[in-house]
Amino acid sequence: MARAKILLACASCRQQVSQWVGRCPACGSWGTIEESGGRGTGGTPLAALAAAPGEATRVSSGSAGVDRVLGGGIVRASVALLAGEPGIGKSTLLLQMLAHLSDEGHRCVLVSGEESHAQVAARAQRLGVSGQEISFAPGRDLEAVIDTARAASPFVLAVDSIQTIRDVTGAQMPGGTSQVRVCADALIGLAKTEGITVLLTGHVTKDGDLAGPRALEHAVDVVLAFDGDPRSGLRVLSSGKNRFGAEGETAWFEMGGHGLREIDPTELLVSHDRSPGAAVALPQAGRRAVAVEVQALVGSTEGPARRQVTGLDLRRFQLVAAVVDRAAQLPLGRTELFGASSGGVRLDDPACDLAVAAALVSASTGVAPPTGSAFVGEVALTGAVRPAANLAQRLAAAKAAGCSVVYAAGEPSKVPHGLHVVPVRHIRQALDWAFHLEDRSVRAHTA
Ligand code: TYD
Ligand code: MG
Repeated sequence: MARAKILLACASCRQQVSQWVGRCPACGSWGTIEESGGRGTGGTPLAALAAAPGEATRVSSGSAGVDRVLGGGIVRASVALLAGEPGIGKSTLLLQMLAHLSDEGHRCVLVSGEESHAQVAARAQRLGVSGQEISFAPGRDLEAVIDTARAASPFVLAVDSIQTIRDVTGAQMPGGTSQVRVCADALIGLAKTEGITVLLTGHVTKDGDLAGPRALEHAVDVVLAFDGDPRSGLRVLSSGKNRFGAEGETAWFEMGGHGLREIDPTELLVSHDRSPGAAVALPQAGRRAVAVEVQALVGSTEGPARRQVTGLDLRRFQLVAAVVDRAAQLPLGRTELFGASSGGVRLDDPACDLAVAAALVSASTGVAPPTGSAFVGEVALTGAVRPAANLAQRLAAAKAAGCSVVYAAGEPSKVPHGLHVVPVRHIRQALDWAFHLEDRSVRAHTA
C-alpha cells in the first residue's frame, strides 16, 4: 500500500506546499509551514501531544542550577530566551552551556551578530572550552542563520543576540520590534519543524524590560532572566515564563576569572551560631538579594599595618575601618585588618558596609553580633548610615536565610512576618545596639 502523503501548509495563510520550506511562498511568513493534519495524515494522537516532556527529551546543560531553572534540563526542540542587561554574562553562560553539550557529543551551532570569531575564541580560551562540536558563524542575516542551522542540523542552535538578527528580505525596519518578532518566529518555526533546540539571548533595558516586543516572551517556551550588578560578581538566573517547569526557580552564580561558577546561597550564610568576627550582609544581585557572611580579622603588628581583603572592595573596607575607628573608638588604625566574604564571593554593593563595620567591631571586641542578625546600609564618612535600595528584597533574603533581626537604615515598605527591623541612622547606633559598646566604654572608664 502506498504511504499516505504528508500534506504541508502554511499555518498563517493555509497555502499548501509540496515540500518543507523555511518561508511560505504565498504570504512570506517564516517558519509557518507545518503538517496540515486532517485529510492526509489522520492527525496526531492527542495523547502524544499531551505527553509532558519526559526524561528522554531532556538534556543536561552541565549546570545543576541552570537545569533546575529550566525545570529539569534542556527540552529538545524547545526555544529558550536568556534575557539580561549588557555585560551581565549572557554570552558567557551560553558558551559554558554549549561547551558542556559539545563535551557530551551534541552538535552545536553558535551564531553571533555581536561578536567576531576572534572575540568568541578569546572567551572560549578564557573559559577553557575545547568546543569540539561547536561551530561558530558570525552573522546577522536571518536567512543565512536558518540555512546554516539546516545544513548542520545541530542539537542546539544558539543565537547571540535576537536583537542583532535581521530579515533582510522583509520590509520591516532593521532593529525594530517587528524585526525581532519576525526573526524569533522564524527561529521558533525552525525549532519545531527541524527538532532543533534554540537558545536565544536578548537584551533588556535597565528596568528589566526586553528591548523589543513583549510578544517575544509569549512566543518562546522559556524565558530566563539573568540579573546582577555588572560591577559585582553575584548573578542570579531565574525562570520567568516556563512551559516545562515552575516560574521563579533561581540559581546563583559568581562571575570570576574563568567564567560563571555556581554558588549555593544557603552556604554563603555559614551558621547562626555566630562567632566573633563575622556578620551577615544582604547584598543585591539584580532584582533579588541574598544573605552572605562577611568576616574580619584584627591583628596586632609592629610593622606596617596591612589591609587585605578577599571578595570585598579594598577601598570601601578601608573607609569603613576608618569610620569604625572614629565612631566606635576602637583603635583599628595601627592594627592589621583582614576582610573576607564567605566563599570569597565578590561583594561590591555599598549596602554591605554596615555588615563590614559589624564584623570589624566584632573581631576587635571579641563580641559576636546578636544571634540571627543581619546588617544593611551604606556608611558615609561622617558615620551616617544611608538607606539601601530595595530594602524589601533584602529583608526577604534575610528571612529566607533564617535571620530574625536586621539592623537597617531606611523605611521598609514591607517587613516579612517574624523579622524584627531595628532602624539605624548612624553607625554608632547600630554598633551600640548590636554590641553594647556603651556598656563597654562605661566599664572601661570605671575600671
Ligand atoms: P558577557 O558574557 O560578554 O556578557 P553579556 O553577553 O551579557 O553582555 O560577559 C560580560 C562580562 O563578564 C565582561 O565584562 C567580562 C566578564 N567576564 C569575566 O569576568 N570572566 C569571564 O570568564 C568572562 C568570560 C567574562
Ligand atoms: Mg554578549
